[in-house]
Amino acid sequence: MERFKGRWEKYRSLVEEGLDVFLPPETEYPQSLYRAMRYAVFSGGKRLRPVLTLSVADAFGTDPKVLLPQAVALELIHTFTLVHDDLPDIDNDDYRRGKPTVHKVFGNAIAILTGDALFAMAYKVAIAGSLPESVKLRILREINDALCYRGVIEGQVADIESLQKEPSYEDMLFIHTHKTGKLIEASVVVGAVGSQVSEDKVARMREYGRKIGLAFQIMDDILDAVGDEKEVGKRLRKDFNRASAVRILGLDGARRKMDELVSEAVEIVDGVLGRRGWFLKEMAEFIRDRTY
Ligand code: IPE
Ligand code: IPE
Ligand code: MG
Ligand code: MG
Ligand code: MG
Repeated sequence: MERFKGRWEKYRSLVEEGLDVFLPPETEYPQSLYRAMRYAVFSGGKRLRPVLTLSVADAFGTDPKVLLPQAVALELIHTFTLVHDDLPDIDNDDYRRGKPTVHKVFGNAIAILTGDALFAMAYKVAIAGSLPESVKLRILREINDALCYRGVIEGQVADIESLQKEPSYEDMLFIHTHKTGKLIEASVVVGAVGSQVSEDKVARMREYGRKIGLAFQIMDDILDAVGDEKEVGKRLRKDFNRASAVRILGLDGARRKMDELVSEAVEIVDGVLGRRGWFLKEMAEFIRDRTY
């Protein structure tokens, strides 16, 4: 566990530095936008997605710094989705990462534009750095496929529409694998593609990403049901009228499903990377055991 936390910290500090370099300074005009972008980004996220990209690269023997721009781009996209997810017309949330949400501090209009700006900035950042242009193009496609068509945005739409019906297990799977799973899957795949490993390895790592992505959202639902608001840093007990895994499978059923996904994910990494996959195996277990 100590070894895992230490390694996470090493990747996280690279990400913090990268985010700071790539985001515009608050002193430039229009300050409100850049302040809001930095407020959204530097508010204590776990940095799970960029940590996945860097750690997959590392496990395949690539210097994680080579993939830092692409890892930073994934965190910018994740943050954009959070800013928009919290808006009054979507989840209407006042707290995120233990602080008032962007629209609460800067107003709805600036929050919408902050999401837009983070999204656009992500593409600029994703093509920076020293990877071959053809690899960057493949990464851009991967990121874009994760968003739309059949990506995060479709998952968000299905999530909102689940409020109007009695959602089925299949609805839940679609929502979870898209609104959350796709970006996590892409974060893993970007690490593998950026390391220029064989297509077979990319495909198996994608499967690992899919499994931990779904497990991650099931845990998000479990935390919504039984987590501690202070520790999680956002309002909880909000998802009982949605396609929450806890609503559909029950608390024990949701935990069982997550256990299954995590064991399968560990097995995949073991097959592809053996001992060099230790961090990714512990990552799957962290997702299962996390309390925040
Ligand atoms: C929250 O993601 C939104 C979901 C996709 C469930 P995280 O739990 O990774 O949020 P941060 O980035 O650590 O705040
Ligand atoms: C968020 O799902 C998914 C995206 C932001 C794309 P949730 O709405 O469950 O995430 P939280 O619980 O607000 O973090
Ligand atoms: Mg939501
Ligand atoms: Mg939400
Ligand atoms: Mg949630």
